[in-house]
Amino acid sequence: MLTAEQNVRITQTGADTPMGQLLRRYWHPIAPSAELNEENPTKEVRLMSEDLVLFRSTKGVLGLIEPSCPHRKANLSYGVPEPEGIRCAYHGWLFDETGACIDQPSEPAGSKFKDKVKMKAYPVQEFAGLVWAYMGPEPAPFLPKWDAFTWEDAWRDMYYCVLPCNWLQCQENSLDPVHFEWLHRYWGGWVQNKRLPEEERAIWNAQTLPRGRHQVKVGFDRFDYGIIKRRLLEGESEEDEWWRIGHPIIFPNLLRVGEAHPTEAGWVHAFQMRVPIDDTHTLHIVHRNFLPRPGVTYEKQDPQQIPWEERAVFDDDGKPLNTWVVGQDQSAWITQGAISDRSTEALGVTDVGIIMFRNLIEEQIRIVEEGGEPMNVHRVDKGAISLPQEYSHYPGYEGTGGPFSDQPNLKPDLVANLSDEAGVQLK
Ligand code: FES
Ligand SMILES: [Fe+2]
Repeated sequence: MLTAEQNVRITQTGADTPMGQLLRRYWHPIAPSAELNEENPTKEVRLMSEDLVLFRSTKGVLGLIEPSCPHRKANLSYGVPEPEGIRCAYHGWLFDETGACIDQPSEPAGSKFKDKVKMKAYPVQEFAGLVWAYMGPEPAPFLPKWDAFTWEDAWRDMYYCVLPCNWLQCQENSLDPVHFEWLHRYWGGWVQNKRLPEEERAIWNAQTLPRGRHQVKVGFDRFDYGIIKRRLLEGESEEDEWWRIGHPIIFPNLLRVGEAHPTEAGWVHAFQMRVPIDDTHTLHIVHRNFLPRPGVTYEKQDPQQIPWEERAVFDDDGKPLNTWVVGQDQSAWITQGAISDRSTEALGVTDVGIIMFRNLIEEQIRIVEEGGEPMNVHRVDKGAISLPQEYSHYPGYEGTGGPFSDQPNLKPDLVANLSDEAGVQLK
């Protein structure tokens, strides 16, 4: 349980807040690249409580700028893209991606007025079919190239949902493995078994029930990029990959997930990205990287044309849609309220991962407050960064576990025993 003040401290996202300052040290995905095209060259974006306009010039250069034209405040999302930038719809001032005004066609010839007009602009870059933005102090760090984003032979797609809740509710879910047994196996199973025809019911149950087995213990340890989450499922040993390798929560707001069993389309390696729109809204992006089954080759994709969709969050009755695993997660996040009241929670043994993550956030907020650089900010381009990921197939490796398949059984920093009296153990 936190105090009300602590809850405010870790959930608020504005530039003048401690968490907002910490979040601004990282690159955040804000849109699929393919969403910005000739047909729709601008997008209104709200990121960490700031309203912005993202545009793509006709030369293909992206800009992320203040929404209001500094002349007489027309919204630049209605502007017209040109080779050098975006031209305001109202009186034709032209702005480039740095926010500089580079043309004022109605001012007298030779006027230098435009040189005095500059508005806020943030750096953006495209990677893995996404547009990423950085709103922190200069110089901007490198955008880390997490493994699955870089795989040559993968096929990709993505979807996003705009959720009416704070980003931390989504991210804390990833430190809460026990929910799988209940939210997905039990409640999700109940929901799906009521609505699906028998053959589809069997498929859902075959996919979800084994993953939703009872967790005998869960473990968490800190690594360079965040926290590794481990779980020991009933009937497995500590040599099994769910425990020995685990999977990463990438600080502060990403989750990497893998898939033990290939779907028709191959093995899916996904990132779930919880991007704060503002304190009470989150852009939740699920970015999927499919690796082909043996003997299959996917068509090469243009990274700027990776398929995407915006998915509905609510049904016609205003209830959160819950017919897929992430939809069930979303239901749990949204129904906690716009900002979960952590001052009235009753945390138990199963919540040790959440407590660890909150402590890590507080530690990293303090580092920033004291003028330091928080974790997982990259000043060197490391190229593709391999992440531990249980039961996943990696290109270039036999079997599951990839570069981590020979990893000795690591001891987590924190273990919650869920099947005996021992409760929580520290390493
Ligand atoms: S309001 Fe944009 S050019 Fe006048
Ligand atoms: Fe979940």
